[in-house]
Parts: sequence; structure tokens; C-alpha cells
Amino acid sequence: MHLSGTKKLNEKGHLTIGGCDTVELAKRFGTPLYIFDEAGIRSNCRRLCETLKKQPVQGQIIYAGKAFLTLAMCKLIQEEGLGLDVVSGGELYTALAAGFPMEKIYFHGNNKTPDELIMALEAGVGRYVVDNCYELDLLSKLSGRMNIQAKVLLRLTPGVSAHTHHYIQTGHEESKFGFNLSNGQALEATKKALGFTSIDLLGYHCHIGSQIFCEDSFALAARIMVDYIKQVSLETGWTAEELNLGGGLGIRYTEEDTPISFERYVALISEAVVSHCREVQLPLPRIVMEPGRSIIGEMGTTLYTVGSIKQVSGGKTYLAVNGGMCDNPRTALYQAQYEAALANKAAAESENTYTVVGKCCESGDILIHEIVLPKAKKGDLLAVFCTGAYNYSMASNYNRIPRPAAVLVNNGEAALIIRRECFEDILSNDIIPEHMK
Ligand code: LLP
Repeated sequence: MHLSGTKKLNEKGHLTIGGCDTVELAKRFGTPLYIFDEAGIRSNCRRLCETLKKQPVQGQIIYAGKAFLTLAMCKLIQEEGLGLDVVSGGELYTALAAGFPMEKIYFHGNNKTPDELIMALEAGVGRYVVDNCYELDLLSKLSGRMNIQAKVLLRLTPGVSAHTHHYIQTGHEESKFGFNLSNGQALEATKKALGFTSIDLLGYHCHIGSQIFCEDSFALAARIMVDYIKQVSLETGWTAEELNLGGGLGIRYTEEDTPISFERYVALISEAVVSHCREVQLPLPRIVMEPGRSIIGEMGTTLYTVGSIKQVSGGKTYLAVNGGMCDNPRTALYQAQYEAALANKAAAESENTYTVVGKCCESGDILIHEIVLPKAKKGDLLAVFCTGAYNYSMASNYNRIPRPAAVLVNNGEAALIIRRECFEDILSNDIIPEHMK
């Protein structure tokens, strides 16, 4: 079993996280339970920010809230001094309710609605990452009407393939995101934005994909963007002052994964920008990086209770837990792989091979296709690791299953940050029309 961060074994052979015995957490908060390691999240934020400060370029780290966002997470990110990337009215509303500084918000999304843009303009959002001409026209109209100068980055697709699952690749030229860089679309949008009085064009954004291990892909995207800034500067006389290179840093889900360290990631991107700006004789832009998964992914663990264990012909043994694709759809969606342990017998020898499945009414509801664990029985606790990113944020009420609770653990203390949904929550939007009463 690979234990990272504050995950340890105690004298009872139980898994502990942030100094809390997971068996006690299960008793106190119930299962399924998302457990977040506060010290680990903070340390990730600090490593990124401190490394960036040491680079010969001005910059800012912003957290991609789509990975996991709640009021407490907004507070934590604010305390660590990061900015925040939001992609919807709901994420923006969360940040507003948490009192997050609006000037540090980057508003993303490929189809922001007029209502979302009005909400952002009223709130005083710091940056609009504009994805297409529809949005540029709409934002200019709305900001003009409200007498506001919206600070804008244009999202471009640099045409870099990121060696990751095709659903989570976004920087290639057929992507639904951004202005195409090579067919003139991006230049046209730049000229248009420069012509709008209620738009303050500050620079460009790109994001090549997610769960990336390839250093060259990040460096290549940075160089392509610098080249483009130079080209536009020569053609229009306007020079971008901010360059946001997106997120995408991969994490270690299993031992086959070999992530780039935070220090290397920040240094390689800033080196690529600094050295290439020198080559093409361009003033250094401010750089922005917006990691999500790498800040929160490895710091989350999902704790389940084991129910049915069933051997089927062919030798496979299904181990069913009291959650599934409703709290973690990533295996079903992206063939994601996870490691896990029996939290109440974490010191026992692993001897049996299981297929971990959930309780949803669907054969595809598999969490782990094959894992070797100690001999399991009903009532055991299964801890699935690295579920901090894109699990709660992509969870659903499929089969009307309430979503789990989440706790933040640190120094032996556990604080509830998401209350467990109950059956009343499930009914809360249902209405019986008059004629059926
Ligand atoms: N910036 C932009 C514009 C993005 O679209 C994303 C992720 C990020 C930053 C953060 O990327 P990260 O550092 O987390 O890789 N649901 C998928 C991942 C989708 C990523 C979407 N965009 C999954 O579960 O793997």
C-alpha cells in the first residue's frame, strides 16, 4: 500500500489521515465519506506559490475550482493567497458566498450565459477568459451598458496534443474551446476586442488538457503562445501583458503514474516563457497557472463500507461498496484507475483479488477493475485513494442516492465541510402538480 501525505497506519492497524483514525471517522460521520487532508492541500498550495515567487517572472497561481469547490475550500484557497478559476454561475456564487476576493477570480467557460455575465460584472470579477465571438460581443454589450471595463483574456487553442485521455484534452485545434490560433480566428478576435471600449484586453489563455505527465507538452504550449504574442505585437502594435497557461499537471493515481513535481512544473513553464521571450525579444508577460487536480486530487480519500462480496463463475470476486459511480464516475467515464486499502485492516497481508463495484443499477458501475486486498468481509471499510479531484464535483444523485458528506482532517481533528444529503434533499425540488393531488 502506497501511503503519501499524512496517511499512516496506527497501532490498531487502522488507516489514519491527518492524525484521525478512519474507523472512528466512519463511526462519527458515516460512509461513504470524502476525507480531505487539510495540511496536504495547504502544503501543495504553498509549494506552488513559493516556487513561482523564485522565478524571474511575475506570476500568480490560481486554483481551478471545478476540481472541488465548497465554501470551506474557497476559504482555504483565499488564506493561501491563490486566485480562483470558476466556470459557472454556481461556482461564482460559491466564491461570492465565501467572501472570496472577486478581483482574484478568473471566469472561464465556453458558453457563459447573459445572466452569468451580469452576475460576474455586478460582483466585480477580475478576469473574463473569453472563449468565442458570441461571448466577446455579449460581454462588450453588457459591460458597456453597465459602464464597466471588463478585463479580458482570450482563450486560444495552441494545437498541442497532451498525451492524455481524449475527453480531457482541450488544446488541440478541433477542441470546442477557444479561438483557433492558426486559421486567423484568434487575430480577428484580438482586433475586435481591442476595438471595444468596454473591454480591456490584457492577454491570452490556453489549457492543453488534464492529467499530463509530459514536460514537453507544457513547454511547447508556452513557446507557441509566446510566439503568438510576438506575432500579434508585430501586426497590431498591441502586446499582451498576461499569459495564462492553464492547468493540467498530472497526479499519482497508481504506481504507474509518474507526475512532474510542483517545483519542476512551475520552473519548466516559467523557463520556457522567459527563455523564449528573450529569443523573440518580447517583454515578459505576467504568467498565470491554474492547477486543480494536482492541488486537491491526492489529498482526498473516499471511505466506503463493504456490503456484498460475491464470487462469479470465471473466478472474479465482486466487492460491493455503499457508493459507486454516483460519488465517483471517473472509472466509468475515463477508465480511471485507483488504489485502495481496507482501512480497518490496513496492516493485513493482501491476498485476494477483487473487482470493486458500487450500488448503482448499472453493470458499468465499477470503481476498480482489479485490486489485491486483504480478505474482506461485510462491514469492512474500503478507502479509495486520490479521489479529491473531480469526484464530489462530478457526483450525482443517480438512482436517487444521496451524496456523501465530506470532512477536512488535520492534526487529529475532523471538521465537517459538506453535510451528508438526506432523503428530504432528494425530494426538495420535486413538485406534484395540482391535477395529481
Ligand atoms: N483550466 C482550465 C481552463 C481547465 O479547463 C481545467 C480543467 C483546469 C484549468 C484544471 O485542470 P487540472 O489541473 O485539474 O488538470 N473531469 C475530468 C477533468 C476535466 C478537466 C477540465 N478542465 C477528470 O475527472 O479527469
